[in-house]
Amino acid sequence: MCGIVGYIGMQPAVPVLMAGLKSLEYRGYDSAGVSVCVSDEIYTVKAKGDLSHLEAKLKETALPEATLGIGHTRWATHGAPSDVNSHPHMGRKGIVALVHNGIIENYLELKAELMEKGCTFQSETDTEIVAQLFEYLYDGDMVGTLRKVLQRVHGAYALGIICKDHPDQLLAVRKDSPLLVGLGKEENFIASDIPALLSYTRDYYLLNDNEIVLLKRDGVSIFDLDGNPIEKEVFHVSWDASVAEKEGYDYFMMKEIMEQPRALQKTISPRILEGNINFEGIGLTEEMIASLRRIHIVACGSAWHAGIVGRYVLEKLTRIPVEVDIASEFRYRDPIFGENELCIVISQSGETADTLAALRLAKQAGVRILSIVNVVGSSIARESDDVIYTWAGPEIAVATTKGYTTQLSVLYMIALYFAKAKGLLRQEEEKMYLEELKLLPEKTSQVLHACNSGSIEALAKQLCKREDFFIIGRGIDYAAAMESSLKLKEISYIHSEAYAAGELKHGTISLIEEGTPVIAIATQSTLLEKLVSNIKEVKARGAYVIAITEEGNSFVADVADEVIYIPKATDLFTASYNVLPMQIFAYHVAVARGCNVDKPRNLAKSVTVE
Ligand code: AGP
Repeated sequence: MCGIVGYIGMQPAVPVLMAGLKSLEYRGYDSAGVSVCVSDEIYTVKAKGDLSHLEAKLKETALPEATLGIGHTRWATHGAPSDVNSHPHMGRKGIVALVHNGIIENYLELKAELMEKGCTFQSETDTEIVAQLFEYLYDGDMVGTLRKVLQRVHGAYALGIICKDHPDQLLAVRKDSPLLVGLGKEENFIASDIPALLSYTRDYYLLNDNEIVLLKRDGVSIFDLDGNPIEKEVFHVSWDASVAEKEGYDYFMMKEIMEQPRALQKTISPRILEGNINFEGIGLTEEMIASLRRIHIVACGSAWHAGIVGRYVLEKLTRIPVEVDIASEFRYRDPIFGENELCIVISQSGETADTLAALRLAKQAGVRILSIVNVVGSSIARESDDVIYTWAGPEIAVATTKGYTTQLSVLYMIALYFAKAKGLLRQEEEKMYLEELKLLPEKTSQVLHACNSGSIEALAKQLCKREDFFIIGRGIDYAAAMESSLKLKEISYIHSEAYAAGELKHGTISLIEEGTPVIAIATQSTLLEKLVSNIKEVKARGAYVIAITEEGNSFVADVADEVIYIPKATDLFTASYNVLPMQIFAYHVAVARGCNVDKPRNLAKSVTVE
């Protein structure tokens, strides 16, 4: 996905655009560009590489003072990162400049059509086709022209458009890609996400799909695709701008790792009232829960890993069969749906294209949607029947940490809520789980401070040159191993593989050789002896084993080369703790390898394209 900003007002536009792009760089950072409109001309500067390259180029290219402009930071889909493929894209006559987040699915067909009409193209992108089509259809009226363009393009888009004939207008529209409208005094903004607005305004519109917005200095008008005006509710940002700052940490990732106790507190506390789990406002009734015959969980990446942990917990407590799918697989495997089913959709950003598509597929089949989302008002939240928010606050680092662990806490609460609705929880059992739940933030804080004592950093420096890691576990520990493995891969670029410990001997153990690092997650009390055997199996082949286990399990430490202890907890909740040392380990390995921890290569924070 990409980051879009746009400004129309009384201030110089370039500093506003650049500050906005800086706050959105987590959405994509392989190239960037800005266009400004001043006295019936459009001036554009764009550069391959992260924003610092554009900043350098802007210093060399003094753009004229302008108070209208658009900016874009890219995560390449069509066309490699390069100056020419960067946004904004222009029409061939230079009448319009346009930025886009999403994918135009029929761009080749449109490109052929425009080429037949004499259009020539500069870039390999799908986005340029929209700029050229707009200019081809342009009749002097920006909104009317955009409506005609939208009849022709298929796909996902958030568009920002400026036109040299209209230095008093900024035009935008969204479909399946997020776009907000910031409302200021004699100035208005468009942005892909709230951090780009915070320095200027806290009031904003959340655009829905197929809503066109025309921004002027003195006001904002919104239309549907037929040109009918639409009234919108103004939202107000509640959190502080500093939350979108690093606050003394080297990277957002470490800040967000250390914010987990507070994020968990904010997610759990409001939902435990007088000894009961309380999900205010959800429409799922006890009768509906009691009649549930199957639960689908769909998500991507770390959210999928949370779903796998969730399956263990939900099936254990509710005895409802649970299927967990990667959303990009689920949406194309023609899944079978039956009566009395629920689909739990998990997404930190609430904008992941595959997850949103999977939600729509299940919804279309009549399945009720319950989503676990971190971004209020995001597309997935708005299209769900019920939403349970993780109150983790904005997560800027591409590698999720507090997003994942707060998702786990919500899944625990859902499992307890459902088990109680089905009358499956004995009173003392319910009390024990609720106590454990309330202790999650404090125990998380204890583990984090123990992990930051320096031993994990030293281990990370010792192992940072290794190129292959195995992370093994059984049951919930195997699910936790998946998330640990992704953390290491995505920020340190080391190949890492999560493996069911009992499965290694069926082939993969052939890869273990002298010194191969194997991280063994060993917290499931009923599986510990088996896990110890698996550790011995890999040790016998020369592996260097780091065990993550609960305090008191000294027999695990006896067979491992290194051991990281976490506090004792109920088996069902250990995934919340054993991922913490791995978050910190992955962080220090990435730092030791000189990687950009917050903005790993090739990645973006939320993948709003397929
Ligand atoms: C996690 O560290 C990754 N950044 C990625 O796997 C992420 O979890 C995935 O893209 C899903 O994003 P979402 O939770 O916003 O839907």
